[in-house]
Amino acid sequence: MSASVTRLGIIGGSGLYELLDDPRYVEPETPYGPASAPIALGRLSGREVAFLPRHGASHEHPPHRVNYRANLWALDSLGVTRVIGVSAVGSLDPAIEPGTLVVPDQVVDRTHGRDGTYFDGPRVAHASFADPYCVAGRELAVDTVRSQGWPMRDAGTLVVIGGPRFSSRAESLWYQAQGWSIVGMTAMPEVALARELGLCYVPLCLVTDVDAGVAVGEGVTQEEVFAAFAANIARIRELLRDLVAKVGDGPDRACAALKPQPL
Ligand code: ADE
Repeated sequence: MSASVTRLGIIGGSGLYELLDDPRYVEPETPYGPASAPIALGRLSGREVAFLPRHGASHEHPPHRVNYRANLWALDSLGVTRVIGVSAVGSLDPAIEPGTLVVPDQVVDRTHGRDGTYFDGPRVAHASFADPYCVAGRELAVDTVRSQGWPMRDAGTLVVIGGPRFSSRAESLWYQAQGWSIVGMTAMPEVALARELGLCYVPLCLVTDVDAGVAVGEGVTQEEVFAAFAANIARIRELLRDLVAKVGDGPDRACAALKPQPL
């Protein structure tokens, strides 16, 4: 496997596995074990792309068990310099309705016990994380989402919970009271690990439901989340085709410069 090729990485749901033209599948070795699934390498909109289904080919890895370190390491070893991360999220704001695409600019980590760093000792480094996402990449994503006519939000704070359960009404109301916009289960440590490797990371968050504290009624169910994601898969594919065509070649200089150096 030659890492001299520069690729765009896409991490997303298993429903996007067939995104690439003529894919071949590779299973890079990493110091952290195997990635969530074989990685599909192929072309999309004329670009070299690596696609990894975050939860595995058959959705067998729950959010708290995803091997995030192996996933990002494997993509990096394949020459990926920019990552687009697609995920399902719940809304914490009644004005952000299901079907909306959010490009968050901030993240709050409420997960526990996940292996969230490559600098676990004896190599130690402290990554800058004030702006977790690629600034230029987010702008491009916002423009692309808008041009496709999606209901969208061009910023917002994503709170990441441990899962796999959804939030209680009280937890959800608390997140809402902090002014946070959306809630998901997978952005951390995925985004932080990308930063530690100097990779550019662009988030695309599809709102699949209104979270427990916001909505009256029974609260979120997995059925509604999966049904809403499936209903939007075709649109997400179209969005990715469009976005991939516009993203620059090679690393984003600003993101690469944020790669921390061990002390
Ligand atoms: N993913 C999709 N909807 C969610 C929600 N309401 N809470 C956490 N993760 C989610």
